[in-house]
Amino acid sequence: MVPLGIAVSCISLGGPAPPHRPAFFFFRDSGHTLPMPDKLTPPSPHLSDGVIALRPLRAEDAPAITAACRDPETQRWVPIIPVPYEEADARRFILLTLQAWHDGSGYEFAIVDAATDRYLGSIGLHLGPNVRRHAIGYQVSPEARGRGYATRAVRLVTRWAFERLGIERLALWFLPGNAASQAVAEKAGFRYEGLVRNWESDRDEMPLDAVMYSMTPEDLADSIAAEAAEAAEAGTLIAAIPPDLSAAGTRTAPFVELAAVADLAPGTMRRITRADLDLLVAWTEDGIVVTDDRCPHMAAPLSVGELNGCVVACPLHEGRFDLRTGEPAQMPTTGGLDADGNYHKPWSPSGAALKPEPSSRKLEARRLTRVNRLRYYPTRVRDGKLEAQLPIVPE
Ligand code: FES
Repeated sequence: MVPLGIAVSCISLGGPAPPHRPAFFFFRDSGHTLPMPDKLTPPSPHLSDGVIALRPLRAEDAPAITAACRDPETQRWVPIIPVPYEEADARRFILLTLQAWHDGSGYEFAIVDAATDRYLGSIGLHLGPNVRRHAIGYQVSPEARGRGYATRAVRLVTRWAFERLGIERLALWFLPGNAASQAVAEKAGFRYEGLVRNWESDRDEMPLDAVMYSMTPEDLADSIAAEAAEAAEAGTLIAAIPPDLSAAGTRTAPFVELAAVADLAPGTMRRITRADLDLLVAWTEDGIVVTDDRCPHMAAPLSVGELNGCVVACPLHEGRFDLRTGEPAQMPTTGGLDADGNYHKPWSPSGAALKPEPSSRKLEARRLTRVNRLRYYPTRVRDGKLEAQLPIVPE
C-alpha cells in the first residue's frame, strides 16, 4: 500500500482530524480486504432520527464518496484529500473505516437516508487517548447539503457518544471561513474555543490554522434544552394525539410531571412509571407522545423496542406501531384480529423458517387476540418539565 495523502473520515464541511490522525490514510487500492468490525460494535439498531440513519460504510458507497471528494468545495475545505480523487481512494477509505471499527480507533458511519439507505455523507467519532481527547468529523455530499443532515448526524453521534462513552469533551474543527461548518457546530451545541494556529496541514504539508469548537456534557444538556425550546416555540415539541385516541379518564385528569425535557432526546424512548401506569415517552419525528408502555398485542414493553421516525417496533412478534396514527404499521407474526375485528393470518419474516403450528388451543388464542389501537395521554410542557394528564390517584 502506498500512502498518497492523509485525511480523516470527516472529509469535508467540518472535518477535523484528530491530533494523532491514526487510521485514516488514503491509499491507492491494493485489493486488500479487511475483516468486518469486531472490536467496536455499531449501535443496534442503527442511530436514526427517522430522517437519517447512521451505519458502517459499505463497498457500494464508493461511487458516492468519490463524487463527494471530487467536489471543489470538499477539496477546498479538506485540503488533505487526494486530488485528483479516484474511486480506488474511496474504496481504500472505506476499508480503513472498517479497520477503525476493528482496531478500536473510531466509530465511522455513513449518513444515509433512513427510508432509502441512499448515501448522504460520512461522520466519524475518532477516539483519542482519553475521554477528553475525542473528536468528531463529517462530510455531506454536495447534492445533500443545505437540508440539515449534518446537524442531525452530529446530534445523533454526540448524544450517543456522551451517553455511551462517558466522554468529557468532544472536539470539532474546520478551516477558517467554513461558514457551513460553523453553523452546523453551533446548531448542534458545540461552543467556539478559538483559532488554533498551524493545526492542520495542506496537501503539501504546509501548516494551516483551524477554528476549534468543543462540547462538554453540560453543553450537550444545554443543546437538548435549546432544541426542545425551539421545538416548543415552533409548536412541534408535542405531537398531536390522533383523533379519538386519548386514553380513558384523561379528559379531566390532573397533569402529572413526568421528566425534565432536557433529560429526553429526539429519536429516543423511555419508560416512566407513575402509580401503576407504565408510560412510554417517545420523542418521534413529529414530537413527543406519551402512551402506555405495553404493546397492544401481548403487552410487551415497547420501551425496549426500537423507534424509527414515528414507528415503534415491539421487541416481540415483529409488531410495529405507528405513533402518528395509533394503528399497527405491521401486524405481529402471530396474526390475530385488528382493532376493527378483521382477521390477519400469521406470517414469517422473509428468510425465516415457518414455525410448527401450535396446539389448537394456542392457535385459537392467537386468532382471537385483538391488536387494538394505541391510546395517548394528553401532554404539555411547563417550566421545562414534561407533564401528562394521568387518571391516577395522587399519592
Ligand atoms: S407483544 Fe408486541 S407484537 Fe406481540
